[in-house]
Amino acid sequence: MTDDREPAARDETAAALSGRSVPERAPTARNGRPQSSGSVEPADRSSPAFQPASLGPVALRNRIVKAATFEGATPHGTVGPALVDFHARVAEGGAALSTVAYLAVSPEGRTDRHCVVLGDAALPGLRQVTDAVHRAGAAASAQLGHAGPVANGRSNRSAVLSPSGGFTPTGPRLRAASGADIARITDDFRRAAAVAEAAGFDAVEIHLGHSYLLSAFLSPRLNRRTDQWGGTLERRARFPRQVVRAVREGVGPRMAVTAKLNMADGVPGGFWLDESIEFATMLQSDGDVDAVTLTGGSSLANPMYLFRGEVPRREFAATLPAPLRLGFRALGGRFLREYPFEEAFFLPYARQFLAALDLPLVLLGGINRLDTVDAALTEGFAFVAMARALLRQPDLVEQFRRGEAAEGLCVHCNKCMPTIYRGTRCVLVDGRTVR
Ligand SMILES: Cc1cc2nc3c(=O)[nH]c(=O)nc-3n(C[C@H](O)[C@H](O)[C@H](O)COP(=O)(O)O)c2cc1C
Ligand code: SF4
Repeated sequence: MTDDREPAARDETAAALSGRSVPERAPTARNGRPQSSGSVEPADRSSPAFQPASLGPVALRNRIVKAATFEGATPHGTVGPALVDFHARVAEGGAALSTVAYLAVSPEGRTDRHCVVLGDAALPGLRQVTDAVHRAGAAASAQLGHAGPVANGRSNRSAVLSPSGGFTPTGPRLRAASGADIARITDDFRRAAAVAEAAGFDAVEIHLGHSYLLSAFLSPRLNRRTDQWGGTLERRARFPRQVVRAVREGVGPRMAVTAKLNMADGVPGGFWLDESIEFATMLQSDGDVDAVTLTGGSSLANPMYLFRGEVPRREFAATLPAPLRLGFRALGGRFLREYPFEEAFFLPYARQFLAALDLPLVLLGGINRLDTVDAALTEGFAFVAMARALLRQPDLVEQFRRGEAAEGLCVHCNKCMPTIYRGTRCVLVDGRTVR
């Protein structure tokens, strides 16, 4: 998969003028854990999931977030009604916050040419997305990223940047980012975050996972530099920390800034817990993020580590041009390794972060049941994020809240993954062929 494919009074006045509703603000708690609120009534007081909570300056109506799933709804990078509908359904379905997936900070940072670049051209369309989400009472987050070695350079018609040179596992050549590239991309993140704010987003999520550019800089396997941007963890962390600071500086006080961070790349010699916890401690002491979402895996070398469950080999092969299909059938097993699905499969790793940090943490990965959500929140996670469960049932949160369901219907077949090229969807809801 190449596209693994984020001052109160002034804001409320703007909202009144634009006709959107602002999520009500719960009393702020730096750790994002719920405070008693006079203004937002939880529908079910017995479930921690439905207690309002603060994500930095943003009040959320509950503690279930829709994780980024590249929507495949932006042909040639243009935002249209399909993207608006996608997020309106999630917001109407009860999630507290919907993450608009993968918005690139520059043309070369796109996963491919169908990815949106966060710039002025995208502003009116993205404003429609955030308005629709706000009308349904949820908040909206923009996932910001630079794909780095995960980018499809041929589609983007640009070089594929990486910390070090070489080749990707599927062949394309990588160009080592220069000091000038690093400075430019840092500015791109700052500018893109400001565009997200202008588009009405409540939060930005910086992509520090899945072997995208910033995650690749953290990886001792992908970052073999010997200059100030490579070597020790301190030096590998320098560019990602600089970007996080730039994003924080690029937005005003009403915006939450979060990061989606790899706990483990899932490849030998990759970024792993011994360093990822220390890196998260650096983020905590830098004070620039309001929460960290904990993920893992590599869209470059081990995508199934992110997902677990069945490997949809046939459906993936169908997305490839005919000459590549045969090779993929023969060798795809090495790239798409199979891991059994378990509910909350990242929990054992995420607990290491919980023990080491005060920073609000978002548990992600295989969450399909309300009792899992409640247990995670009770244990100390500030929020949970769900991706596939809400692709299968965008209204699952509302079903949980009403007591109509305690568990989602997603079966972790992963056949939604190859749909990202033609409109991301659960194949059990909409069974059109993937290509
Ligand atoms: C179809 C699909 C597209 C995805 N696109 C993105 C993406 O653009 N950015 C990202 O960070 N994660 C992406 N993910 C990963 C999810 O955000 C999440 O990390 C992963 O699916 C595990 O969560 P889950 O078990 O709740 O599905 C995608 C997942 C799916 C299924
Ligand atoms: S296709 Fe549907 S059931 Fe299968 S993993 Fe994706 S969301 Fe779940």
